[in-house]
Amino acid sequence: MTVLETVRSKSAQVLDFNERYIPGGVVSIVRKAEPDLAFARGRGAYIWDVDGNRYLDYHAAFAPIVLGHNDPYVNGAVRKAIDAGASLYGSGTNELEGRLAEMLCTHVPAVEMVEFLNTGTEASMASVRLARAATGRDHVIVTQGGFNGSHNDVACNVLTPLDQIGPRVSPGEYRYIPLGPGVPDAHAQLVHVINFNDLDSVRYVCERHDVAALVTEPILQNIGIMKPVPGYLEGLRELADEYGFVLIFDEVKTGFRYSVGGYSEVSGVTPDLVYFAKAVANGYPFSALGGKRELLEHFAHPDPAKRPIVSGTYNGHPVSVSAAIATIERLLEGDGQVYRHIGRLGQRCQAGIESILSSRGITGTVARQGSAFCLYLMDHEPVDWHDLAGNHDFDKDLVMRRALIERGIYFFPVATKQCSISAAHTDSDIDRTLEALDDVLSQL
Ligand SMILES: Cc1ncc(COP(=O)(O)O)c(C=O)c1O
Repeated sequence: MTVLETVRSKSAQVLDFNERYIPGGVVSIVRKAEPDLAFARGRGAYIWDVDGNRYLDYHAAFAPIVLGHNDPYVNGAVRKAIDAGASLYGSGTNELEGRLAEMLCTHVPAVEMVEFLNTGTEASMASVRLARAATGRDHVIVTQGGFNGSHNDVACNVLTPLDQIGPRVSPGEYRYIPLGPGVPDAHAQLVHVINFNDLDSVRYVCERHDVAALVTEPILQNIGIMKPVPGYLEGLRELADEYGFVLIFDEVKTGFRYSVGGYSEVSGVTPDLVYFAKAVANGYPFSALGGKRELLEHFAHPDPAKRPIVSGTYNGHPVSVSAAIATIERLLEGDGQVYRHIGRLGQRCQAGIESILSSRGITGTVARQGSAFCLYLMDHEPVDWHDLAGNHDFDKDLVMRRALIERGIYFFPVATKQCSISAAHTDSDIDRTLEALDDVLSQL
């Protein structure tokens, strides 16, 4: 029986049951992707569905899992905190949050002060609000193909069909196309969508509007691994200084995946604000918004008119804070041995895929940063959404992903979604992946 056939059994039953109570049967409908699997557990580099099928996991829950599922050190730290009586007080401060804040300010060059939240979306929302409060301006620039969370300012224009946005424009901007209904049009008027890697369009918008902030992932990781061209991030920094907008790096996916100092440290470009989530706590719900002291201090400004609200019952929950401390400790161990390990596996994976592509005469390009990679079925690394949407073979990409899942290798079954290697992956896992990929690509 193939994986897809067994899926008709217990996974299908779980979905049938859940559909009675949860819209679409799945919490967060973006997680619903064929084959409709229901998962039971995860350990190390593997996840198991409810039918007992085991998958080598490259999805990593949309990227948080950097150490491996249920990392014993992180789980141990969480247990220890709970056993010691750490609880939620909703009042005052505590030593745990100070300890984590100090770690972040010490190890992330872009972070002089920091605030804690629970999700990437919350941190993103707070960053935009802070930028507006600090500048007294309303307009925001985001990137076509970037994803910065599900709040109104940024939930737009990711995998946008080209017939909805039309051809590439530069310098210029695209229409705000929400990821779903419910965003008031008046709100969308304040958000300007530009190409990635297009400084002329940033200037174009800045010449026409009072821009409070530009929010961008430094590498677009919700459409694979789309890297900044040399000079792009530096150019954003210069434009931010010239026009006085707040440069915000969304490091929800890049943060802690490549370096404890964030991608801003890797690139050498320091944003004004930066927010992290996902890998910073290896899968526990935690996010951090940090940056320049003079901006962060607005959150406690003595003048209420200059103090934007940031609040949340669960902000700084001791379970999440303990998980983040333990994750960072693991990532700092052995002078970054985790990064050396996962980076080397990423390199092996890339070399192996490239050799398969050339021996089979298949057009494809592996875009990779450290342990995260994406196989684009096109002849070059894309530089913006139009380049990708116009050249990548989305249908074959999906067929490839589903065929890999049949073989026990879990690439998320949506075209262009990036793969993430964890510290629990081994050389033999990479060998097995390459064997399966060779088999699948030979049949494409
Ligand atoms: C780059 C980026 N920013 C923000 C978010 C939103 O984070 P969350 O899902 O924790 O709200 C995501 C989620 O995938 C993301 O990939």
